[in-house]
Amino acid sequence: MTPRRASAWVAALGIVAAVGLVAALGLAAAGCSSTPSSDPAAALRRAQSMTPADARLAGLYAQSCKACHTAADSGAPLAGDAAAWGPRWAKGLPALLTSTVGGVGGMPPGGQCFACSAADYETLIRFMADHPS
Ligand code: HEC
Repeated sequence: MTPRRASAWVAALGIVAAVGLVAALGLAAAGCSSTPSSDPAAALRRAQSMTPADARLAGLYAQSCKACHTAADSGAPLAGDAAAWGPRWAKGLPALLTSTVGGVGGMPPGGQCFACSAADYETLIRFMADHPS
């Protein structure tokens, strides 16, 4: 290899390394911004400790929403996790009711609550999103 060739190689390797570094930094930044909560373990503990005050609603919740909305790997926004609910709450309660009744992503229609009325869904959504009124 001539010295000239060698320096071209060094330059090319430098570019590849720089592109790789930028890509890695980009991925790291994307990973941070898509994390729903700054402390996932605390968010999980909080979700699992929450229960609706009303006994009938607590029963409906325990039989349906709770299974997914207190499980870290379900893809559901955790109950009481302000970071996860913020952007969803911003869509407005009517939109959230529609997606609950019709299903969305990994959530089956009605959130698996067969005894829930529209008012029950609203109270349960408010409860999980931490917007009681
Ligand atoms: C089988 C699991 C499962 C059950 C049971 C469940 N959910 Fe969900 N829920 C999900 C998942 C997963 C998402 C995220 C869906 C997405 O955005 O891709 C979600 C999202 C939501 C959202 C946000 C919808 C939006 O438009 O952003 C609301 C509101 C909601 N669930 C309410 C409820 C209520 C109320 C119950 C109980 C009556 C319930 N869910 C039961 C899995 C579940």
